[in-house]
Amino acid sequence: MKVTVFGIGYVGLVQAAVLAEVGHDVMCIDVDEKKVENLKKGIIPIYEPGLTPLVTKNYEEGRLHFSTDARSGVEHGQMQFIAVGTPPDEDGSADLKYVTAVARTIAQYMTDHKVVIDKSTVPVGTADKVRTVMLETLKQRDLDVPFDVVSNPEFLKEGAAVADCMRPERIVIGTDSEAVVDLLRELYEPFNRNHDRMIMMDIRSAELTKYAANCMLATKISFMNEISNLAERLGADVEKVRQGIGSDSRIGYHFIYPGCGYGGSCFPKDVQALIRTAEHIGYAPRLLQAVEDVNESQKYKLPEFVVRQYGENLEGKTFALWGLSFKPNTDDMRAASSRVLLEELWRRGAKVQAFDPEAMNEAQRIYGHRDELMLMGTKEAALHNADALIICTEWQSFKAPDFVEIKNALRDPVIFDGRNLYDPERLEKRGFTYYAIGRGA
Ligand code: UGA
Repeated sequence: MKVTVFGIGYVGLVQAAVLAEVGHDVMCIDVDEKKVENLKKGIIPIYEPGLTPLVTKNYEEGRLHFSTDARSGVEHGQMQFIAVGTPPDEDGSADLKYVTAVARTIAQYMTDHKVVIDKSTVPVGTADKVRTVMLETLKQRDLDVPFDVVSNPEFLKEGAAVADCMRPERIVIGTDSEAVVDLLRELYEPFNRNHDRMIMMDIRSAELTKYAANCMLATKISFMNEISNLAERLGADVEKVRQGIGSDSRIGYHFIYPGCGYGGSCFPKDVQALIRTAEHIGYAPRLLQAVEDVNESQKYKLPEFVVRQYGENLEGKTFALWGLSFKPNTDDMRAASSRVLLEELWRRGAKVQAFDPEAMNEAQRIYGHRDELMLMGTKEAALHNADALIICTEWQSFKAPDFVEIKNALRDPVIFDGRNLYDPERLEKRGFTYYAIGRGA
């Protein structure tokens, strides 16, 4: 099938590459000329396992095209994906200006039936807005061309985006048209073999499904972080509690890891956006607000530990930091807890020697102008002559370090661990002072 994808970000690029991989003819449109030129040369704007070879291969084999020419994009596919960003505006609501701009563009150039598919995470009611904008534009053109608007939210995880898209757990389709269901069944047929993963519903339910999923996951994390704060004060070990409750199949082991707060582009943004949506209709979402509040304060845990150990004045101190990205296997630092940590340390006069396996360029882009940040080539180099070690991200390569080397390199044998990577007893035996999340004061 011929498919057009507007917006070559995480969602758009991965979806486009995966659709091309199974044989569809996919054109990607973006306003960013540099990005488009780079993609044609095989330079991929994000780090995502498996994405570069997938994009390169499908581009070379002619099933994946990149362009800034919106008109040719509209002409290309009957299926028109909207996968542009929906950044939070000032009050945390999702800003739909890019989504509506694409809707307008499609209506401006279309001459035959189009299926417009909202893939971006958009507030409930967006499909209606897209339809209205398109009808207005068509009216200005004095044309009556049929189209359908579908909500088809994306559930991929950064760091596993290609795998998630190739083997989705579910494909949620919100539509009011039977004909569209058939077209989407055909589009997704290669991903829907063996058992049916397509879940059909009305448009608004599909839009809300995406927010409900992310908010449920964020709730699990904030719940566990709340328990970890209790555990700390009660002299209990939250890691034991985690195993204890995870063994209950109704609760499960997934997403109950306490830590220094969730980050990334999705959870913080989507929780806030759903809070704003609720407020706009006069409902105060108390649980969601608590999820957000717990997460915000959780990001201050590591700086609080540092202050507990060294006092408020950190002038003359240098900290080794392992992990800058908001989670492993990505270079994404949006809303990462490392950013709150860095600001809090700098505010008190400290310097930081940081290492991350993938996010060094991103850190350079964001903080390149700050002398208080030294970006080091290896995790060992980050330790050299630092006062203590702080861990923000649970990268695999941090899980079994050489503790003798750490102890020799640091001025003080102190580790602040925001991801509970190590066994407290073992570290104490080795002579470390070990701060972790929810594992006794
Ligand atoms: C998230 C969702 O998992 C996807 O299902 C969703 O489609 C996506 O957002 C989206 O909206 O597009 P992602 O942002 O890639 O995906 O990140 P996650 O792997 O879900 O992790 C989010 C954060 O929670 C990370 O900062 C992670 O360190 C933290 N986390 C996760 C915890 O603190 N504890 C846990 O138990 C699990």
